[in-house]
Amino acid sequence: MTKSPRTCLSVVLAAGEGTRMRSRHPKVMHEVAGRSLLAHVLTAIRDGAGGKVAVVVGPDSNAVAQEARSVLPDAESFVQTERRGTAHAVLAAKPALARGADDMLIAFGDTPLIRPETLARLRKALADGATVAVLGFRPADPTGYGRLVVQGGELVAIREHADASDEERAIGLCNGGLIGLAGASALAILESIGNQNKKGEFYLTDAVSIARERGLRAVVVEVDEDDVRGINTKAQLAEVEAVMQRRLRQAALEAGVTLIAPETVHLCADTTFGRDVVVEPYVVFGPGVSVADDAVIHSFSHIAGAEIGVGVSVGPYARLRPGTRLGEGARIGNFVEVKAAHIEAGAKANHLSYIGDAHVGPGANIGAGTITCNYDGAAKHRTEIGAGAFIGSNSALVAPISIGEGAYVGSGSVVTRDVPADALALGRAPQVIKQGWAARLRALKSAVKK
Ligand code: UD1
Ligand code: MG
Repeated sequence: MTKSPRTCLSVVLAAGEGTRMRSRHPKVMHEVAGRSLLAHVLTAIRDGAGGKVAVVVGPDSNAVAQEARSVLPDAESFVQTERRGTAHAVLAAKPALARGADDMLIAFGDTPLIRPETLARLRKALADGATVAVLGFRPADPTGYGRLVVQGGELVAIREHADASDEERAIGLCNGGLIGLAGASALAILESIGNQNKKGEFYLTDAVSIARERGLRAVVVEVDEDDVRGINTKAQLAEVEAVMQRRLRQAALEAGVTLIAPETVHLCADTTFGRDVVVEPYVVFGPGVSVADDAVIHSFSHIAGAEIGVGVSVGPYARLRPGTRLGEGARIGNFVEVKAAHIEAGAKANHLSYIGDAHVGPGANIGAGTITCNYDGAAKHRTEIGAGAFIGSNSALVAPISIGEGAYVGSGSVVTRDVPADALALGRAPQVIKQGWAARLRALKSAVKK
């Protein structure tokens, strides 16, 4: 995207109470594709608008301000102490507005499907001379939305649903909520907005008629309904998640990932893939996953916070938790859980294991049913497994513990002391053989029956 030489300030309204979400958390902190609604809006602004960002939060919304800073460290937060309408909310950020910018964009924190290119289009409209640029869309059901009143090809007013006449309610073109204002007139227009309407609120949408009265131009930038879908309920959150998942899968397919049954794969906004990756049906990617070239993720795997190397094979039914790093060609098979562990190139844990807080050297083989006993009830401890070591099936490695390079651990061992390189550790009860014992038992039982 070519950067405009004009400066930009985006104001994000995030003071929504979210009461209809039936949640203890602020609405904009809810997540879609593993990222908060607010973070989606802020990353779209970063990628499509650039410039400075001000976030307007409600009282007691420290978490929201913190989330904004974690996405954009320079984001400023302002508190709207009373909820008196969208224009009133924008003016909570007056110190930022007063510093001036060529373009000002006002976005809502609960519309996470907004795309960078849409924001760029709004800025383009301002650069082309509009004072107000409004995102328009044609919803299947326009009830509740502000209607865009267009006369002779010009946007002349936005009429809120509650204030609209029957004739105006018949208009299909609606306000998507996102508005661009030319910085030169923005503050003066915002401060002229009154609250003479049914709700007694200060409506941002009145910016259109005020600009017109001053002989300034307002335009509509039309977009798809999905781009401006807002969230007020958990049902709408789920609908937006579905749209976001479709977009992410489409992007993965276009980038060359093979998704055998795309609609069954759940992705996160930050999931990254190399070339020739295959993802089988029913895989869930949580946040922080990167998958390198030629890796295969088999069905029913759940993966979060993991770096998957070139040519790695994961699953079916594997669980990779945060802090997992899998080196080139490593294999993590069915019913294996890995957490905070670096498993180096060519190492294998193919069946039924837990590997946590561990380092596994290249080429090591972890037998079926191996458990790193990393937790003693109070603290976590590390397991070190050297290159080429062989851990026999059903072993318990009681951490902190170190298994040297090339060492063997006999099957069924409980290993509590470090094993030197190339040694064999046996930590199990020695086997006892009692010749003829079973036959004697059977004879005894049949004698009792008679
Ligand atoms: C708004 C628009 C409407 C548009 C619709 C699109 C106005 C007056 N109306 O209506 O034209 O069709 O969005 O979804 O702008 N907020 C605050 N403080 C306030 C009031 C609102 O921060 O005092 C925030 C809300 O949290 C929300 C956003 O502003 O993120 C929009 O407010 P909302 O009440 O949802 O406006 P709508 O009635 O949906
Ligand atoms: Mg709304």
